[in-house]
Amino acid sequence: MNRRNDISLLPYNTFGIDAKCRSFAEYDSPEELGEILKAWQGKGKMLHIGGGSNLLFLGDYDGLILHSNIKGIKNTDDGLLRVGAAVVWDDFVAYTLENGWYGLENLSLIPGEVGASAVQNIGAYGAEAANFIEGVECMNLTTGERRTFTNAECHYGYRQSIFKTPEEKGKWAVLYVNYRLSRTFVPQLDYGGIRAQLERKGIALDTLTAEQLRQTIIELRQSKLPDPKVQGNAGSFFVNPVVSRQKYEALVKEYPNMPHYEVSAEEVKIPAGWMIEQCGWKGRSLGNAAVHDKQALVLVNKGGATGQDIVRLCETIQEAVRTKFGIQIHPEVNFI
Ligand code: EPU
Repeated sequence: MNRRNDISLLPYNTFGIDAKCRSFAEYDSPEELGEILKAWQGKGKMLHIGGGSNLLFLGDYDGLILHSNIKGIKNTDDGLLRVGAAVVWDDFVAYTLENGWYGLENLSLIPGEVGASAVQNIGAYGAEAANFIEGVECMNLTTGERRTFTNAECHYGYRQSIFKTPEEKGKWAVLYVNYRLSRTFVPQLDYGGIRAQLERKGIALDTLTAEQLRQTIIELRQSKLPDPKVQGNAGSFFVNPVVSRQKYEALVKEYPNMPHYEVSAEEVKIPAGWMIEQCGWKGRSLGNAAVHDKQALVLVNKGGATGQDIVRLCETIQEAVRTKFGIQIHPEVNFI
């Protein structure tokens, strides 16, 4: 167990915001978390964090920040992997491929930890964590009760889960996530330039290995997304808005090259990054905050930005997109 008071949160958020917290506790087991929760009773608010890749601290945090140090990957039954919440996501993906378990290739190099993968339903290149999660083992932060949510009980949707709803948000710590993977490699290549990149690399589809696909996804991500170790950021800052088909059809008349993803017969998702670029914000700065020059969905800290600087840029972009497209875009990042 690691408990400290009044520490800087700089190492715990990939945006590189230098905020402080009153108290910080890292636990190695569910039992230790239980003890910490008992000792904190009545002392104030709590926030459970993961790898800090989806957080924006607007100021100091006057409460307890919890972080799991529960590691380990256990193959409990053929293909069911029980993974500690604190395992680094991409280490888990690498482990699965090294051990001949397939499914997570397209989710390579997403920053963060396994616990958050089940909360955020992380997704990229046509794959989502929810497609592979069998259950999420949690502890109630108020009562200490342990509960396993089945996949159905998690109510997964695009970047959505029960753990993000107003009723359940902040209520549960994820202890372990149970991932169900396959011994058969079925490549998913239909999204976002994967085939073109494979062709550039001269890799034939009939001999493609899971490791080659992983490396291709890593290269695609690295070509567009800034490395948080080099420049503070939290990946996609906004979620892509889902609009009615009627709205989409009206817009596509005006912008025939507008990309989109089909959601259902009634709804269509429009890439917020494309709209932000159309508004002229790609690569532009406002004070120490900027829009990434290779992917406009990502806001970056140019150095020394405060949470407020990022919020100012966020609101300016929201206003620009609302004015040009009549669509309200919402942050994916949690403001604390
Ligand atoms: N686009 C632009 N300009 C930009 C950015 C995008 O025109 O600056 C266009 C692209 O050309 C493409 C479309 O918008 O036609 C979609 O772009 P991209 O494939 O880069 O994906 P995205 O929808 O912007 C989502 C995820 C990413 C994930 C990629 C790839 C969300 C919120 N974001 O972005 O997730 O890596 O797809 O699958 O759904 C993350 O969550 O941190 C993240 C990076």
